[in-house]
Amino acid sequence: MSGQFITVEGGEGAGKSTNLAFIKTLLEAAGKEVVMTREPGGTPLGEAIRGLLLDAAQKGMSSDTELLLMFAARAQHLNDVINPALAAGKWVLCDRFTDATYAYQGGGRGVSMARIAQLEQFVQGDLRPDLTIILDLSVAQGMQRAGARSTPDRFEQEQHEFFEKVRTTYLARAEQRPQHYRIIDAGQALSAVQQQIRQQLTEYLGNN
Ligand code: TMP
Repeated sequence: MSGQFITVEGGEGAGKSTNLAFIKTLLEAAGKEVVMTREPGGTPLGEAIRGLLLDAAQKGMSSDTELLLMFAARAQHLNDVINPALAAGKWVLCDRFTDATYAYQGGGRGVSMARIAQLEQFVQGDLRPDLTIILDLSVAQGMQRAGARSTPDRFEQEQHEFFEKVRTTYLARAEQRPQHYRIIDAGQALSAVQQQIRQQLTEYLGNN
């Protein structure tokens, strides 16, 4: 018996938190036992690594260090949380996963995609998300929404151009393997966004 692995991605200000809670409710209503978690983080060690990654004071962090810390946190997360939950037949709902590494470290920072793929295989073996929901919206709108929040972390301090590359990478990955991705237009009002999510997820659950 094995559960399914669903990840949710999106740029800054895409409404991930609210919509993750909504997706969890939909899955539970469909009778799934759901473990909701996040990256970077999801374990005490992973959360400590997250603190370093997001700390705006860590200005000198190299792209390779950033990449390795993302995968270090992920290795612990897989070992302690994700793999055991899936093996127990639970559904894992994860706020970001390796698509974010391709988008932020690959697209945003310019790290080689082949290098990321090597680490992905090393850390995850053959595990990939069954389904990835991308909450997509324009960078301008995302930055406007996120800007209304508290002090920016190390990633939120990046400029428009960086987030355009992040967005482009997410969309390109979805285009390469459309059966594994659902793109949601997150630029609309929350009720319209959730209607799209409900529709896509209902269809997915009907087929899986
Ligand atoms: P969050 O704001 O969605 O919690 O994510 C924290 C930040 O970490 C966000 O700016 C995206 C970034 N991130 C990466 O750069 N690479 C990754 O692999 C992951 C999981 C997150």
